[in-house]
Amino acid sequence: MRSDNWPYPRVVAHRGGGTLAPENTLAAIETGARLGLKMIEFDAKLSADNVVFLLHDDTVNRTSNGRGAAAKLRYDEIVTLDAGSWRDARFAGERMPTLEQVAARCKALGLAANVEIKPCALRDVQTGRLVAEEAAQLWSSSAVLPLLSSFSYDALAAARDAAPELPRGLLFDGVPADWRAQTEALECVSLHANHRELTERLVAQIKAAGLSILAYTVNDPERARLLGEWGVDSICTDRIDLIGADFFDRA
Ligand code: G3P
Ligand code: MG
Repeated sequence: MRSDNWPYPRVVAHRGGGTLAPENTLAAIETGARLGLKMIEFDAKLSADNVVFLLHDDTVNRTSNGRGAAAKLRYDEIVTLDAGSWRDARFAGERMPTLEQVAARCKALGLAANVEIKPCALRDVQTGRLVAEEAAQLWSSSAVLPLLSSFSYDALAAARDAAPELPRGLLFDGVPADWRAQTEALECVSLHANHRELTERLVAQIKAAGLSILAYTVNDPERARLLGEWGVDSICTDRIDLIGADFFDRA
């Protein structure tokens, strides 16, 4: 059974537009929206001068035409980089957007947001605090608040302290034995798990603890259907072409 108090759509586009667009860009978000998705996940971190912007890796190397560590680059340097061409020439000129730009685009397109706090090394607390403070302000008038998540316990603790009103989900790759204690301490509404780690029994235990579950990254429709049957509340997918917004209505 899905959680009654979970306000989020059941299908979430991973990194904005899954595999159909350069990850963590405005083009990705627009792609997700064009395919009918109602919620997107993206990765947020700090530039050297503490601007919150979107990037998955610690460096800009894989997903732009630049080189270097995000923590060492100022945002006025980052914004000059092409974050689209590596994916496809038709995305040339895409930038790594700020959280402010992303919030504006999500609101304009009617998209709910899962803001994954992705700190660079040794910046967990600062990143968690600054992302949460900014998200609270940017979405202050929104009916559906952004869902903050992180693999970093320290980042999510800082987010809790900075903006306790924003819902939080703790991300796990392997779900540890003390998942209950960690999510309780962080006052989480949800647990976000690698779908490969989930079993029907573990899903039931997590739900019995009062948590909603978001499973990532689910690209096989059959697996998505099974997770839905077990009671997983939402899935995050790269394959928004196969697993659309109405996937579970049709299942
Ligand atoms: O939030 C779910 C998923 O995005 C976590 O993994 O590495 O794609 O950020 P990653
Ligand atoms: Mg992510």
